[in-house]
Amino acid sequence: MVELIVAEDYQRLSEQAAHIVARQIRNKPDSVIGFATGSTPLGLYRELVEMHRQGELSLAKVTTFNLDEYVGLSREHPQSYYRFMWENLFAHVDIEPDRIHFPAGLFTDGEAACEAYERELEAAGGIDLQILGIGANGHIGFNEPAESLTLSTHIVGLAEETRQANARFFENLAEVPREAITMGIGNIMNARAILLLASDKNKAEAVQSMLTGKVDPKVPASVLQLHPRVTVLVNAEVAAHLQT
Ligand code: GLP
Repeated sequence: MVELIVAEDYQRLSEQAAHIVARQIRNKPDSVIGFATGSTPLGLYRELVEMHRQGELSLAKVTTFNLDEYVGLSREHPQSYYRFMWENLFAHVDIEPDRIHFPAGLFTDGEAACEAYERELEAAGGIDLQILGIGANGHIGFNEPAESLTLSTHIVGLAEETRQANARFFENLAEVPREAITMGIGNIMNARAILLLASDKNKAEAVQSMLTGKVDPKVPASVLQLHPRVTVLVNAEVAAHLQT
């Protein structure tokens, strides 16, 4: 079941998202949270840091799994998702570094790297709350539009539109990696609850297809219609382009 919530603006969206995440952690301090990168959840992370600073939220017992990582980037690379999460969230809260999990971006054996992540997810007992953004092409994590869905952690060639969309973070398009390692659709669907955020009107079409289109691997997010507990949080700008 997908519940759509419209927040007035990006700030309100970020605050509401932070309340949902904080509620999960307060109800179950040892929650397993799936984190996402991208510009959209930045406000959420800012709010979580603020809650922590105010003494209202502790992540001391939380375990985290990030959705994806670029292949070929070291953890220290300025554009690695590992670094993004440290800079924007982990360094500013009381999270235990041992409980932070990322798929490996640098590896000699890709299959082994994917299997290792699967084992870590399994050992943690799965994800309680998965945060998601959405690509303008309907991707979630780095599950790009395809002929079929891949369920488990895998290595994926990035769609040209995704590389272009993410080029803003790199010196130029050529620097954007061509591959990523990502949780699969099955990993995401196994999460007990999902919170998807969209705050840019260029995402409206993807959000619309996700909400009301047919379930289609060409719009990977559409599969979320089959999940029992999904909250889609959009700002008014996105909502204005939706027909629900
Ligand atoms: C990247 C990430 C996704 C993210 C998407 C949207 O490709 N792999 O997890 O949801 O971009 O990013 P943004 O929020 O910056 O638009």
